[in-house]
Amino acid sequence: MNNYTEYIQTHKTRFIDELLELLRIPSVSTDPAFKEHVFKAAEFIKGQLDKIGADKAQVCQTDGYPIVYAEKIIDPELPTVLVYGHYDVQPADPLELWDSPPFEPVIKNDKIYARGACDDKGQMYMHLKAFETMIQTDNLPCNVKFMIEGEEEAGSESLATFVKNNKERLAADVILISDTSMLGNETPSITMGLRGLSYMEVEVTGPNRDLHSGMYGGAVANPINVLCQMIASLTDENHHITIPGFYDDVEDAPEAEREGMRKAPFDLELYKKKLDIAEVQGEKGYSTLERTSIRPTLDVNGIWGGYTGEGAKTVIASKAYAKISMRLVPNQDWYKISELFQKHFEAIAPPSVKVKVTRHHGGQPVVTPIDSVAFKAASAAFKDTFGKEPIPLRGGGSIPIVSMFKSELGLDSVLLGFGLDSDAIHSPNEHYGIFNYMKGIETIPLFYNHYAKLMREELVS
Ligand code: BES
Ligand code: MN
Ligand code: MN
Repeated sequence: MNNYTEYIQTHKTRFIDELLELLRIPSVSTDPAFKEHVFKAAEFIKGQLDKIGADKAQVCQTDGYPIVYAEKIIDPELPTVLVYGHYDVQPADPLELWDSPPFEPVIKNDKIYARGACDDKGQMYMHLKAFETMIQTDNLPCNVKFMIEGEEEAGSESLATFVKNNKERLAADVILISDTSMLGNETPSITMGLRGLSYMEVEVTGPNRDLHSGMYGGAVANPINVLCQMIASLTDENHHITIPGFYDDVEDAPEAEREGMRKAPFDLELYKKKLDIAEVQGEKGYSTLERTSIRPTLDVNGIWGGYTGEGAKTVIASKAYAKISMRLVPNQDWYKISELFQKHFEAIAPPSVKVKVTRHHGGQPVVTPIDSVAFKAASAAFKDTFGKEPIPLRGGGSIPIVSMFKSELGLDSVLLGFGLDSDAIHSPNEHYGIFNYMKGIETIPLFYNHYAKLMREELVS
């Protein structure tokens, strides 16, 4: 490979400045109030793709937010890498917990602080800068397609349709995604699986109006009390989920994979210290790493009802609500799990209340092969830049579209993530290390290089 690291060093400041510019666009996809900004972020990405020499850059309109597409086909005989990422971000609330405004990025202690700094603007933009570097230093060894969406944080509905309708345009050999994390900057790991997701909302109704809790308390079911009891019963003393059939399709992780996790340098004491908790908690029989990757979970994401304002109000509310999500592992199916949840939740409701269960979005779990050419290329690239063999580990989060890439396009994904779990994605003070941003830009061209080379060898043999 030509000397490309020099190019990266020379242009480092600009690479960072451009990311800061993107981070100033509040492209929150789940809140309609930010609509124009989400479209603006798409235009920004398209403009940058044009600038760095990608062809056919286009903002593809959908029923929702647009998908930015571009490509560079240098030789149809060569393999093609399809890069996926997202330019939308999570809402920034609660705003008062940020040390600096979420859409006014600042650099502190060599980290960029802003909503989307890591998830996924920072990680996605590394691919544009890596591409620019490969073009400018004459190092691009294969074809590239970019597909950057704006609805990942809202369930990727438009992208699902786009993928189904554009199979030819999206033809490729592998999908490349940087939207996950690694164990640590000194302990690189590559994500080899993602959990699925089933996201539900429940509404519990007691009396037809709010009641005086002295006049009626003790005689009429309080929907908030009932909801809490129902939620509490969804897990048992071993932190097993009690929904009948919930574990039926769970495929146990191979013993070799569990062995690898036991050996991974994970510091539980530091983990607890960083979160300021005295003890961890989770399913009996599994370690913390296992609980957050190879096992399914159920969590309440939000719960509300009754009086939450200043002071005290004595009231039995008419309604109580909760948003409940379940993380899924192979071979659980999110449609089936959502249905099991709904049936069970309705079944355990006492006759004193009515319940309504609605479904939000979801996605299927995935495990990617670690013996593929692409995974080997990713490992080799990491080894080059980190000086260490990366550990293959499943991630706990979800990227719903990844399973669709497999089912609709027949393509495996390589999850080349450079974030850290401590980057506070989806939380106040989200940040991304400059080290990680630059490391990504440096590692990606090596991935392309190893991948093209290994594919060539594969053809010969
Ligand atoms: N990039 C994350 C997923 C992720 C983060 C995977 C870290 C592994 C490690 C993605 O943007 C995300 O937040 N996904 C959502 C699901 C989506 C449907 C809202 C999630 O996991 O909650
Ligand atoms: Mn993401
Ligand atoms: Mn996210």
